[in-house]
Amino acid sequence: MNIKITKASKSRIHSVDMNDIPFGKVFSDHMFIADYINGKWQNFEIKPVENLSLHPSNLALHYGQSIFEGMKACVTDAGVPCLFRPEMHSKRLNKSAHRMCMPDFPEDVFLEALHKLVNIDSQWIPPQDGSALYIRPFMFATDEFLGVRPSEKYKFIIMTLPVGPYYTEPVSLKAETNFVRAIKGGVGEAKAAGNYAASLYPAKLAKEQGFDQVMWLDGIDFKYVQEVGTMNIFFVMDGVVVTPKTDGAILKGITRDCIITIMKDKGYKVEERLVNIEEILEASSNGKLQEVFGAGTAAVVSYVKRIHYNGHDINLNVNNFKMATLAYDTITGIRKGTIEDKFGWLVPVEVMETV
Ligand code: COI
Repeated sequence: MNIKITKASKSRIHSVDMNDIPFGKVFSDHMFIADYINGKWQNFEIKPVENLSLHPSNLALHYGQSIFEGMKACVTDAGVPCLFRPEMHSKRLNKSAHRMCMPDFPEDVFLEALHKLVNIDSQWIPPQDGSALYIRPFMFATDEFLGVRPSEKYKFIIMTLPVGPYYTEPVSLKAETNFVRAIKGGVGEAKAAGNYAASLYPAKLAKEQGFDQVMWLDGIDFKYVQEVGTMNIFFVMDGVVVTPKTDGAILKGITRDCIITIMKDKGYKVEERLVNIEEILEASSNGKLQEVFGAGTAAVVSYVKRIHYNGHDINLNVNNFKMATLAYDTITGIRKGTIEDKFGWLVPVEVMETV
């Protein structure tokens, strides 16, 4: 693939304290950018991160045709920069694109762009435990047009950011009984920007009431757990790992998939099924609810210390969380190369000379 590369004349890395990186605010030197014009992806380029220039009628700004991915690169203890499950992210990006009536981005270009971009900015991968290079591929409409129809032109960009942990403390959740994130047939399974915009107001109310995040319930009965603001959710009840089945309204998390795979591999019983919030309440009151944790690329594994539902509180002792710790340690161990990558999730970044 012909990717034009223009390198920054001077890296900004020396102005960054890698031991204290606020999530989402520090960007590495370069980005990948491409245009979809006349039915074809073209103008593949890696260049220094710069502002975009958009016409005010940009279709994405008005009608929300915008999707993204969240993935990570890490460096093993032996110093090898690696991508984590890049093909799976490429496939999920294209599923989101399909749902939002946007063009596929070719997987071979996606992978080559990732390798080249992370290779150029490999010194931006923080080696500290719990840190990584967060990778944000995203696609948005670029037609200059006011009217509801799919855009004919798009941009696809990949940015990278050194990050520490998304949540530094266990979180408290409010099970939401008024607002809905997604219903079957909607766009809940797509990583569409609008899903996150729609979550902001309920999340703001939950924060005002002292919670860190909203736990979404289904939009029909307000009974079945879906996911948490930025993560999928897992429960451990009576030694069984349980997570809501993905039914079209829940994001098919890649960390979720890692945890299911790891737990099954360790011989634990894993159930993907409908999870009624009443069942969680009952398991809590009869002592069967052992752990609750969230899973996401940004959050990795995040312990849940409290769930509030309809006047009831479920409190959890995070110090006893064995499965959540096993999940976190296994994922981070694989990323560091200290645990065998028997599932083939790590892809070493191809080292190439870039002038
Ligand atoms: C991720 O976990 O990568 C996400 O996309 C969540 C985002 C809110 C940081």
